[in-house]
Amino acid sequence: MRTVAFANGDRMPLLGLGTWKSAPGEVGAAVREAIRQGYRHIDCASVYGNEPEVGEAIQAAIAAGEVRREELWITSKLWCNAHGRENVEPALRRTLADLGLAWLDLYLIHWPVPIKPGVAFPSSAEELLSPGQVPLANTWEGMEAAVEAGLTRHIGVSNFSTRKLHDLLAHCRFRPEVNQVERHPLLQQPALLADCTAAGVHVTAYSPLGSNDRPAGLKGADEPVLLQNPVIGAIATEHGCSPAQVLIAWQLQGGISTIPKSVNPARLQENLAAEDITLRPADLERITALDHHRRLVDGTFWLMEGSPWTLQALWDEP
Ligand code: A2P
Repeated sequence: MRTVAFANGDRMPLLGLGTWKSAPGEVGAAVREAIRQGYRHIDCASVYGNEPEVGEAIQAAIAAGEVRREELWITSKLWCNAHGRENVEPALRRTLADLGLAWLDLYLIHWPVPIKPGVAFPSSAEELLSPGQVPLANTWEGMEAAVEAGLTRHIGVSNFSTRKLHDLLAHCRFRPEVNQVERHPLLQQPALLADCTAAGVHVTAYSPLGSNDRPAGLKGADEPVLLQNPVIGAIATEHGCSPAQVLIAWQLQGGISTIPKSVNPARLQENLAAEDITLRPADLERITALDHHRRLVDGTFWLMEGSPWTLQALWDEP
């Protein structure tokens, strides 16, 4: 399995299992099956609401001798209601308790958006904090302290623009090692990728298959269905593989880690087998031509009336 190496020599498998949208009641079986099939990287987050069940599956796999903790790469994410230096460690300890783990491999700031403690998801602007009230640099100090406390081996960010990433890099003691962002052929993020690469920050692609199972509230009226894209479909036919495999192989071939979600054993297997597919230069060119900067998880859910956020302020894009 292809990996990326970090400065301390730790290696993260490029292909991981996503657990966003994997419902309680089915996520545990999916994680257990994935580990049996050979997945060694599981991407979690407290806000997904399923970490206890993910943890049970991991524990069961370890107890059954199917895998050792050291062979797994477990990522989780700090939810927005725990920004601020003092709030990071308690939130991380809750995640560790939920997952039944002594440490994480990677802990990410989930969004650069602080919300009020105790609020799971803001329904009005009063439940948001302004970016100035809890600067990201302050939250980052809590992330650094978590590394020093041995609670996570690596730290990083998610949904960070190049600008926000550089603001952190300018002042941090421990560098963010990963930026997890939406990336797929309709949103290829070449500038962000080049910048992260130059800064030595690894990029993980979320929503690699287009996350068509996301809640209706997170979907626009004219949503493209990436898995039905005709160019991806044609390339899949030429390789005798599935569209999902083309989408995953494209990320891996670019050295990008990615976390396709599935709760279906056959699709888990299919996604893992994408490791063995090599796209040709002409395929890559056709995929490059699909980019039209189309965000699927566009962050409009932070923009309720009176919000301190605009899409421009969130993504630092015109
Ligand atoms: P399921 O969990 O039933 O397999 P993303 O990773 O971009 O968030 O996309 C996840 C969506 O893609 C889910 O609806 C998931 O459904 C589906 N999916 C995962 N793997 C495949 C596959 N190999 N073929 C088709 N759909 C897939």
